[in-house]
Amino acid sequence: MSFYSFPQVQKGEIMFKKLMAIAVAIFAVASLSFASPALAGDAASGAGVFNANCAACHAGGNNVVNAAKTLKKDALKENGKDSVAAIVTQVTNGNGAMPAFGGKLTDAQIEDVATYVLSQADSGW
Ligand code: HEC
Repeated sequence: MSFYSFPQVQKGEIMFKKLMAIAVAIFAVASLSFASPALAGDAASGAGVFNANCAACHAGGNNVVNAAKTLKKDALKENGKDSVAAIVTQVTNGNGAMPAFGGKLTDAQIEDVATYVLSQADSGW
């Protein structure tokens, strides 16, 4: 019996090793994509969101529709928009002539773009 089951065991072992290799690969990919903490948004990914959705009105941190409401540090401060939370609200719901992006962008994208806007404002665009 043990003589015949030996190849079976080997097969099972190879199968197990294959599964382990796949599991390790999946874990590696997953841990890579979560490498940047999701606490604050990801400014690098926010840059892409900004260029695709915001730059038409806010290129360079300006505001082509309402010149008093730029994305520069001073204006953000003056208008109470100098936090990720405030920008997330503005982007999600829109305000005045600015359209809402709540249905268009995911929560993560909005948080990323808010983080990007703040970091650009901090560094002077
Ligand atoms: C169609 C033009 C347009 C687009 C596109 C647009 N905005 Fe705006 N944005 C505006 C206008 C107009 C205002 C001023 C609205 C108000 O009264 O708060 C504004 C205001 C803001 C403010 C507050 C600025 C301040 O000083 O009070 C932030 C932050 C902002 N936008 C971020 C974004 C981000 C991020 C995106 C992309 C997801 C975006 N906007 C897309 C037109 C736009």
